[in-house]
Amino acid sequence: MRWWVWLIAVVVVIGAGAGIYLLKPINGPARDLTLAGDLTRGNYLVRLGGCVACHTDIKNGGAFLAGGVPLGTAFGSFVPPNITPDPDAGIGNWTLAEFSDAMSNGTGPGGKHFYPAFPYESYTLMSDQEIADLWVALQAVEPVATKAAESQIPFPFNIRLGMAAWQNLFFKPARFAPTEGKSEAWNRGKYLVNGPAHCVACHTPRNLLGARDDSQPLKGNARGSLVGQVPGIDKDNLIALGYDHDILTDVLNGGVTPEFDVPGGSMAEVIFESSVHWTQEDRDAVATYLLDE
Ligand code: HEC
Ligand code: HEC
Repeated sequence: MRWWVWLIAVVVVIGAGAGIYLLKPINGPARDLTLAGDLTRGNYLVRLGGCVACHTDIKNGGAFLAGGVPLGTAFGSFVPPNITPDPDAGIGNWTLAEFSDAMSNGTGPGGKHFYPAFPYESYTLMSDQEIADLWVALQAVEPVATKAAESQIPFPFNIRLGMAAWQNLFFKPARFAPTEGKSEAWNRGKYLVNGPAHCVACHTPRNLLGARDDSQPLKGNARGSLVGQVPGIDKDNLIALGYDHDILTDVLNGGVTPEFDVPGGSMAEVIFESSVHWTQEDRDAVATYLLDE
């Protein structure tokens, strides 16, 4: 046989291998789906996770969790869908297992792969109990029968199968692991910042493919591939900006920065739809972790 026949065979085998690797299913650690959820805890998690900030069109008086304002990113405009329990327009036909897969593995019914504009890279860290709690809270929301608008995603990013490859390359489904030797508050802060409150989703730099660069945690996103330019909120940067524990918890509670300013843009939504609704203990925990106290 001619040498190039072998070459083609080798290329085909490598290509198929890469294809199989890139398109393999996303399966994080298994979850216990038998736990009974709690509505009160679930309602708190809806605020902790910022679901309201994205999935409600607050400025235009949109119904609670019935679909949000398009998120403009370098990869297209993503519309947070209706997540009320309406069976057609929302997620009323979903099972807990499907909801858990969306939150933990970034996949939806019918083998759909979600874009990381939905911060499942952070929600994957949540506990099985919290997934059950959130599910109960979402099912208790008033169903809204209107679908949200479609996302406007240009080629080639509109090919959802591409997200399977992206997830296989960049997404590591996992549960939260506390750091030994640190206080309970510090570890709660670590959990909130990386998990439900997903500060890392915006404040950790991302590369040209939108993958988070965890070697530079919370160092800010000058390129602004997801939500525009974002300042660093690692310890060094917070101190350089003039923050201490009290100013930071104050900002998260709707107060002013060391520059006597109120953060704008998507941070304003994080604050007013999410962190002002948290317990002071949780705002304290975030400050304890970010300032490494
Ligand atoms: C930063 C904005 C943002 C936040 C915060 C957010 N989401 Fe979403 N969510 C999205 C976007 C955008 C999509 C659509 C992703 C896609 O099309 O791939 C989505 C999709 C979903 C879906 C899939 C719905 C469907 O019909 O396919 C579920 C379920 C969901 N989000 C639940 C939640 C929950 C629960 C929370 C809070 C814990 C939350 N989201 C917080 C932006 C967000
Ligand atoms: C949806 C993206 C997003 C998320 C999530 C997010 N931030 Fe921000 N954050 C921003 C943006 C954008 C700014 C810049 C706001 C501005 O320019 O006015 C900002 C600004 C800030 C500032 C002000 C810094 C300064 O210049 O004084 C602090 C503090 C901060 N964020 C903390 C946090 C914490 C803590 C979390 C998690 C609880 C968080 N952010 C989650 C996008 C985000």
